[in-house]
Amino acid sequence: MSQDHPLLQRACDILKAGHVVGMPTETVYGLAGDGTNDQAVTQIYTLKGRPSFNPLIFHVNSLEMAQQFAHFSKEALRVAHYFWETNPGPLTLVLPRNEKSAASLLACAGLDTIAIRRPHHPLAMELMTRFGKPLVAPSANISNQLSPTQAADVEKDFPGLYVLDGGACTVGLESTIVGMTHDTPIILRHGGVLAQQIEALLGQPVEHYTHDNIIAPGMMKKHYAPRKPLRIDVDEPDVDEDLLGFGQNYPHAFSNLSPKGCVTEAASNFFAFMRQMDGSPKPKIAVAPIPHEGLGIAINDRLLRAVS
Ligand code: TXA
Ligand code: MG
Repeated sequence: MSQDHPLLQRACDILKAGHVVGMPTETVYGLAGDGTNDQAVTQIYTLKGRPSFNPLIFHVNSLEMAQQFAHFSKEALRVAHYFWETNPGPLTLVLPRNEKSAASLLACAGLDTIAIRRPHHPLAMELMTRFGKPLVAPSANISNQLSPTQAADVEKDFPGLYVLDGGACTVGLESTIVGMTHDTPIILRHGGVLAQQIEALLGQPVEHYTHDNIIAPGMMKKHYAPRKPLRIDVDEPDVDEDLLGFGQNYPHAFSNLSPKGCVTEAASNFFAFMRQMDGSPKPKIAVAPIPHEGLGIAINDRLLRAVS
């Protein structure tokens, strides 16, 4: 899509007027608004039905833009350079907020930290370059429900919303969130960038959040849930369950996240297939075991929250 594409300009005009649009990213679609405008932020919380104590991620088109809104330690700079530029991956950093910046406090839920991510979808990048300011964008779904990985999913949840159609999301699961406000980085949400990659880059271990070290109010809630009851790690479904398979052992599954057993393929199919399962004939969903490796860690994290 070229720089002067009319759809892109229309999205930009809507944002400038303080309203919100559906924005494609490589992970999932976002419900995007001006990160410096409390009114736009309020619309996002209201449309999603999201509690306002759960802060939003600020999306930027460059490290320079990010540095206006957050303080980067030497380590944070290394991580950002690497995963935002050298070897792009879906990574959100939680950093000390620059208190002099114009970031909406509402979007930060009043915390003295700020979550920042540089997406890698060309349309998102062009939109931010054109808009010139960070866009806050939670996943474009009604709060706690399944995330959207194509424009039609967003249009279903938010009829009448202007959605910039960037095709199906390639990664399919939300970004990895890493807290870098203390000496030791901490994984706050699993995603496409793995803990081991960050450890290898920094040469130091990273921590993982537990029930005891929650630092964002939104971290433990039930999330990513289909409407139907869900059971996980199932090999043999009950008669009232449709099975979502993984790998070659499930010829009778309703559908299969990756018949060849690839966790990356499974991640990119995950939310779209879960939405299909919500519309399948049987009243309950069962999901086959997914290996806890690579993106399988992030898939299992989403499944655990869905059953919580
Ligand atoms: O891939 C993604 O990250 C997608 C796309 C649209 O960019 N966005 C996304 O946003 O998943 P959302 O709102 O669904 O999830 C944001 C998470 C929430 O769990 C929130 O609690 C956490 O980020 N968060 C935001 N600000 C934070 C902060 N200052 N400290 C800790 N966690 C924060
Ligand atoms: Mg979400």
